[in-house]
Amino acid sequence: MSDIPDKTEQYVLHTYNRAPFTLTRGEGMFVYDETGKRYLDFVSGISVNALGHSDPEIAAAVTDQIAQLSHVCNLYYSAPQANLAALLCESSFADKVYFCNSGTEAVEAAIKFARKYARSSGSNPDKTGIVAFTGSFHGRTMGSLALTIKEKYQAPFRPLMPGVSVAPFNDIDAALNLIGPDTCAVFVEPIQGEGGINSATPEFLRALRTACDRVGALLVFDEIQCGMGRTGTLWAYEQTGVQPDMMTLAKALGGGLPIGATLITDAVAAAIETGDHGSTFAAGPVLCRAAEVVLRRVSDAAMLEHVQKMGNLLLDKLRQLNSPHIVEVRGKGLMVGVEMDFEVAPLIPAGYKHGVLLLNAGTHVLRFLPPLIVEPQHIDQLVETLDDILSEITTA
Ligand SMILES: Cc1ncc(COP(=O)(O)O)c(C=O)c1O
Repeated sequence: MSDIPDKTEQYVLHTYNRAPFTLTRGEGMFVYDETGKRYLDFVSGISVNALGHSDPEIAAAVTDQIAQLSHVCNLYYSAPQANLAALLCESSFADKVYFCNSGTEAVEAAIKFARKYARSSGSNPDKTGIVAFTGSFHGRTMGSLALTIKEKYQAPFRPLMPGVSVAPFNDIDAALNLIGPDTCAVFVEPIQGEGGINSATPEFLRALRTACDRVGALLVFDEIQCGMGRTGTLWAYEQTGVQPDMMTLAKALGGGLPIGATLITDAVAAAIETGDHGSTFAAGPVLCRAAEVVLRRVSDAAMLEHVQKMGNLLLDKLRQLNSPHIVEVRGKGLMVGVEMDFEVAPLIPAGYKHGVLLLNAGTHVLRFLPPLIVEPQHIDQLVETLDDILSEITTA
């Protein structure tokens, strides 16, 4: 083994536990370590590599753009940013896009926009409250952390941004009790990722929509993990019949390059003025060229149909697994979780031994987020591997 793991641990701040190998290249559904060992990727960089690894069209767009105009800041116009913004708006409920560099920044922007919208549309100076839900993950910077309802992440950093109240996910009565005249926004993931692949019920989202409208609060959908075709429609909210006022995106949007976006309606945009928010790097031309390729490809009807088919196949095959330890198999499209009756952490290194990249969501759920280009043979390989690992565990 090379010195890369030791060098990383010596010089890179340890905020992640890493796999015991060093990846050197990727192609389609697979990545390769420095010994040449191949791993089937059911993680996608946590819902990032929607088109798989080293997609030739992304590579060509990025190479072409970096040679023409690599960076311009937001003091100037550039075609890739305008084109990407238009595509995002034309394919969603939104009228305008605010660009940033990551998921947590997209959430921070949404928090600021909600506050500013409340301030400019009413006379209640206390309308700064935000409602979030148990199991949610919205990021780790100081604003988004206050909405990421997990003690482990929040406790060391208190005091958090004030004004956040928390209802149990999918509990309509509890949510309605919290949404009042002092609420400026409600943040919800249509499908919780980190929280364990939990889908919001359409009734829950409808109730949130009605309550937000009643008190003049904004409904914010965080589709950072579940958007961009992952659930079999371009946006997860399309399957719920409920539209948000704002939506946060990142992860898959840049095809591996760092770009985030907060999509908003004209009504929200009207409250935002020059200087209210900004970012040096946001939506540079190279990032936008990559994102345009991803967005066009994942919006394609054939791609979405493929995600639905592969998602159903994955769910079916996982449900056929004959293990007494499986509590539930759940999810939509290619965002799937298997809840076990034990802590799943040891399954992940077992996956590495079998040449498969696996991921958890919390302590008891194995989460599957393969590239959207996954084919039946990859699903077979995953499920056979899981079957082997689960029987090893049962017989150990
Ligand atoms: C739903 C959701 N929101 C926000 C974030 C934060 O995104 P980032 O890690 O790009 O800051 C994540 C990351 O996992 C996420 O899954």
